[in-house]
Amino acid sequence: MTSRVPLNDLVRQNRQLHEELAAAARRVVERGWYVLGSECSEFEREFARYCGSGDCIGVANGTDAIELALRAADVAPGDLVATVANAGFYSSAAIHAIGAVPVYIDVDETHGISVASLRQALAGRGVRAVVVTHLYGRIADIEEIVALCEPLGIPVLEDCAQAHGASRGGRKAGSFGTAGCFSFYPTKNLGALGDGGAITTDDATFAARLRELRQYGWDGKYRVARSGGRNSRLDEMQAAMLRIKLPHLDRWNEERRGLARRYAREMQNPRVRCPNDFGSDNVAHLFVVCCEDRDGFRKHLESRGVSSDIHYPIPDHRQPGYGGGAEVSLPETERLSAQIVTIPCFAELAEDEIRQVIQAVNSW
Ligand SMILES: Cc1ncc(COP(=O)(O)O)c(C=O)c1O
Repeated sequence: MTSRVPLNDLVRQNRQLHEELAAAARRVVERGWYVLGSECSEFEREFARYCGSGDCIGVANGTDAIELALRAADVAPGDLVATVANAGFYSSAAIHAIGAVPVYIDVDETHGISVASLRQALAGRGVRAVVVTHLYGRIADIEEIVALCEPLGIPVLEDCAQAHGASRGGRKAGSFGTAGCFSFYPTKNLGALGDGGAITTDDATFAARLRELRQYGWDGKYRVARSGGRNSRLDEMQAAMLRIKLPHLDRWNEERRGLARRYAREMQNPRVRCPNDFGSDNVAHLFVVCCEDRDGFRKHLESRGVSSDIHYPIPDHRQPGYGGGAEVSLPETERLSAQIVTIPCFAELAEDEIRQVIQAVNSW
């Protein structure tokens, strides 16, 4: 009787670091300073250095990171913001929170934003900002996008929630655009033990705005100098947990990448298309395969004790809460969203579990 392979198991990672995490938690409890203290400022310093960015601003979660970065870029109600529709509605939620309007750009076969489609959109309507999602852990065509947007004065915000530590040409995700927006939701490659987020940037003025915006718009205690402020802070407990985990991130990413490469090599089923591009610019946050008969494939995996999921089943423009978007056409986004299946890929998977996943895929 084989056991079930989970899509993720956070206890396995946290158990390895249990003593350190518990000691850090105790330190925070005993210090008696729980919001915007030394754990947060030290983490901001350490994460900025890790990302090769001039500054880092801790916030409450990844969606807030995108929203506050858009606000710091002066995006206002009614402004158009270009983004993709295949990345779980997070950027859409941030854009809608401001009262701005998402302009959905189709993706290409990499699941990343299509530069050709973006170029077309920028030529037409007055797009005010672009959010580029590094989906599934792979850095999108960010250099081309920055080169396209910079001369037009359009800020590029990177959604790095799935790409902590990915790097290309010696530069880390979050250091290419105007700002990098991170989530530390527990399942992320760098995950807290609760919610958390951060924004990286090289622009000191942008960073100063973000520090105001994350705390009511204050430039000092109880003085609101900037409109559009929120309460969105990375708390001391989560910052302390992240400081313990950050030194392990490169190793965990390498382990995920190694596993993804092995999957790509050993999964040999002509009906299942595997990604096969796990260089330094892909930290294998999710291993997402494509197949025509998705339901049949998932049932088979289930019968072999292998968990699976879909990231994400409903493209943003089709979400019922925002009208279902019958007028928007995104052929590649829609084609892929009907075929994608996520299978277990995390650093702590055991050898027998890895074999079980590979055999389940190959025996379908
Ligand atoms: C691509 C992407 N962007 C943004 C977010 C939002 O992060 P959070 O859940 O911390 O708000 C997530 C994760 O949840 C994500 O996967």
